[in-house]
Amino acid sequence: MTAKPAHLNFGETNVELPVIDAAIGPSVVDIGKLYAKTGLFTYDPGFTSTAACESAITYIDGDQGVLLYRGYPIEQLAEHGDFLETCYLLLNGKLPTVAEKEDFVGRVTHHTMIHEQMSRFFQGFRRDAHPMAVMVGCVGALSAFYHDSLDIEDPYQRMVASIRMIAKMPTIAAHAYKYTIGQPFIYPTNSLDYTTNFLKMCFAVPCEEYKPNPVLSRALDRIFILHADHEQNASTSTVRLAGSSGANPFACIAAGIACLWGPAHGGANEAALKMLEEIGTVDRIPHFIAKAKDKNDPFRLMGFGHRVYKNYDPRAKIMQKTCHEVLKELGIKDDPLLDVAMELERIALSDPYFIEKKLYPNIDFYSGITLKALGFPTSMFTVLFALARTVGWIAQWAEMIQDPAQKIGRPRQIYTGPTQRDYVPITARR
Ligand code: SDX
Repeated sequence: MTAKPAHLNFGETNVELPVIDAAIGPSVVDIGKLYAKTGLFTYDPGFTSTAACESAITYIDGDQGVLLYRGYPIEQLAEHGDFLETCYLLLNGKLPTVAEKEDFVGRVTHHTMIHEQMSRFFQGFRRDAHPMAVMVGCVGALSAFYHDSLDIEDPYQRMVASIRMIAKMPTIAAHAYKYTIGQPFIYPTNSLDYTTNFLKMCFAVPCEEYKPNPVLSRALDRIFILHADHEQNASTSTVRLAGSSGANPFACIAAGIACLWGPAHGGANEAALKMLEEIGTVDRIPHFIAKAKDKNDPFRLMGFGHRVYKNYDPRAKIMQKTCHEVLKELGIKDDPLLDVAMELERIALSDPYFIEKKLYPNIDFYSGITLKALGFPTSMFTVLFALARTVGWIAQWAEMIQDPAQKIGRPRQIYTGPTQRDYVPITARR
C-alpha cells in the first residue's frame, strides 16, 4: 500500500514529500528532493529521527524491547541456536539447512589461521597496549595480506573476505590478549567449535593440556549471538559510511572497531565494570546515583540507557541469566560486584529520574561481570564485542554494497561560522 505523502509548508512553498511504509516499525519521509525543492537541509545531530538506509537485517522495537535478526527473536536464537548459525542467518537472510551449516562451518574453520607474517605485527606494540589498539591495527592490516578478496564489486571476493573476517577475528583477538600477558600465541584447533577454539587460544598454554568447559563455551557463544548485530548503531554506521566510498572490507571493519571502542558505545562494558569496581559496596550506590542525576556532573551510570531501547534491553535479560549460569558453573557464590550490580539495578529501576528518562540496563551492564568471571581482563571486553559484531558489520556492509540506491555518504551541515572576510597582513593584526 502506498502511504499518503507528507506536506511541508515553508513560506510560500508547499512541498509534497513521499512517505514509505516499513515492513514493521516507523514509516519514513523521503527527503531526497527537499533541498532541490525548498533550499532547506534537515538538521538532526546524532540521527535521532533519521533513517540513513533501507535494511532487511535487524529490527528493534525500543518501546517493546524487541530485537529480531532477519525476523527471528533474539531470545529464540540465543536459546536454540549457536553463533555460527546466527552468522549464516545474518549474512544470507535464512537459517541454514544441515548441509548449508556444515559447509559454512567448514569454510570458517579452514580460514582461522592468520598469515604467519601478521604474527610479527603484534611485536611492534608495547606489551601494555590496549588490545583494541591492536585490533584496529591488525584488522586494518588484513588488507595488506589478502589482495584476492578486495574487489568489492565481485560477489565471490565479498564472500571470501566475509568468511575470512569472521574466521580470523577470534585468532587476532586471542593473539592480542596473549601478547599483553607475555604468553605464546596458541594456534587455532580445527577440531573444536568456534567459541571453544577461541577460549582455547586465549587460555591454553603449550605446557598443559587444555580442558574445554562446555558450559562456559555455550555461555560465551550465546554472548556472541547477543552482540552480533544491532541495526544502524554508531559502529555499523561507521562501517557503512567507510564502505560507501569503496574502501576495502578489512579497512571498513577496522573503522567499525575504532568507533566501537568509545565508552558511550562498545567501550561501555569495560566502563560499566570499572564503575561497579569504583562503587565497590552497596552502601556507596546512593552517592553514585546522585552523581548520575547531577546535571553538572558528567558521570553517567555505564551500562544504563540506550538511544533506541526505552524499555529493558532484551539482551540484558539474557545477559543477566547467562551471568548467573557462569558464576554458578565456576562456583562463584557471592561476587561483590554482582551484589552491587543487582542492587544498583533495583534502585535505578525504582528511581523516578531513571523511570522518567527511561534508563534501563543495557547489554553492557551484566556482560562485564560475566566476562571477568570467564577470565578476561576488562581491556578485552570490547574486543569480544568487536569479535561478535564483525558479522553484523559485514552483513550490513554487504547489504549496502548491493543496494542500488547506495551512493557515497556525504551529510550536509548548518553553517554558523564567520561570513566571508578578507585576509589581514600579520603586521596589521591586533
Ligand atoms: C551500546 O546504538 C546501539 O544499538 C548500541 C548498542 C549496540 O548493540 O550496538 O546497543 C551497544 O552502545 C549500548 C549503550 C552502551 N553505553 C552505555 O551504557 C553508556 C551510558 N549510556 C549513555 O551514555 C547513553 O544512555 C547512551 C549514549 C547509550 C544513549 O544516549 P542518548 O540516546 O544520546 O541519550 P542522551 O544522552 O540524550 O540522554 C537522555 C537523557 C539525558 O538527560 P537530559 O539531558 O535529557 O536531562 O538521559 C540521561 C542524559 O543525561 N542519561 C543518563 C544516562 N544515559 C542517558 N543519565 C545517567 N546515566 C546514564 N547512563
